[in-house]
Amino acid sequence: MRFGGLTAVRSVDFTVNSGEIVGLIGPNGAGKTTFFNCLTGLYIPTEGTVSYQGKVLPPKPHLVTQAGIARTFQNIRLFANMTVLENVLVGRHTRTKEGLWSALLRGPGFRKAEKESEAKAMELLEFIGLAGKRDHLARNLPYGEQRKLEIARALASEPGLLLLDEPTAGMNPQETRATEELVFAIRDRGIAVLVIEHDMRFIFNLCDRVAVLVQGEKLVEGTSDVVQADERVVAAYLGEPFEGDPGTAEAAEVEAAEAAAEAVAEDRTADAAPPSDAAPAADAEDADAESTEADSTTKGETQ
Ligand SMILES: Nc1ncnc2c1ncn2[C@@H]1O[C@H](COP(=O)(O)OP(=O)(O)OP(=O)(O)O)[C@@H](O)[C@H]1O
Ligand SMILES: [Mg+2]
Repeated sequence: MRFGGLTAVRSVDFTVNSGEIVGLIGPNGAGKTTFFNCLTGLYIPTEGTVSYQGKVLPPKPHLVTQAGIARTFQNIRLFANMTVLENVLVGRHTRTKEGLWSALLRGPGFRKAEKESEAKAMELLEFIGLAGKRDHLARNLPYGEQRKLEIARALASEPGLLLLDEPTAGMNPQETRATEELVFAIRDRGIAVLVIEHDMRFIFNLCDRVAVLVQGEKLVEGTSDVVQADERVVAAYLGEPFEGDPGTAEAAEVEAAEAAAEAVAEDRTADAAPPSDAAPAADAEDADAESTEADSTTKGETQ
């Protein structure tokens, strides 16, 4: 895929098999989102084709969705002034004969289809944990729930392959862990998942296979273990070896807690300070956020 003189993605040959969770990682500007945009017909690749279940897909977003590929976006794209349920119903329109307008206008001839669609949308909201908020406006949801809603809307098109572009960006560690569980649950529903993420712990916990994109080219592809150990990946992206050991995070939290406790102890106005267990918690979150720091610096500029 070329933009003028810039080749954003070059000769990336890539397959996702059914039942798999595959990760796509790489530095900012590596071409990950562009790759998704090529897969989903938002961009027409200068060269190359996208095939799904043996058929070449035309580069038209609605045809790609109809064929069974759904996606979420790096920057949340919801209908902010529609309710949670309506957002999911919009996602269903490729699967209803009546199309988008009947989902929105609810003409009298479409009651039955509408009922069915609503039941399916509600089932998805239950699955994703937002059923209780069906009538809330999307814009009033907290950020983490907006991300979930985007996933529910993508699932509403009944995909066989789901593409997630940085699903945990901006999330706290608890939300990130919940998203991990959610992706496993999606896979267990028989949907293959291709996920872009900068949070290496998330990626390596989750993925059966990981591909690394650097300057538009695929550097390595393999299991989490193989990719983590590959020196080229470490050099090009990770910076330092990632220890898949969950103890690493705990050690960082303990370190942050100790530092915070020391700071509190040194503080002459200790009486006015927050309780000693509140400060370490905040610090631990900061420490955790470091692993996704690289992405937050340029997020938004490439969409
Ligand atoms: N529509 C466009 N027009 C021109 N250049 C573009 C366009 N979209 C992306 N690019 C360029 O293509 C390159 C790859 O961008 P892309 O958004 O795919 O990176 P990314 O790997 O998703 O990065 P990030 O991790 O920051 O999201 C960048 O140099 C970007 O500036
Ligand atoms: Mg991107």
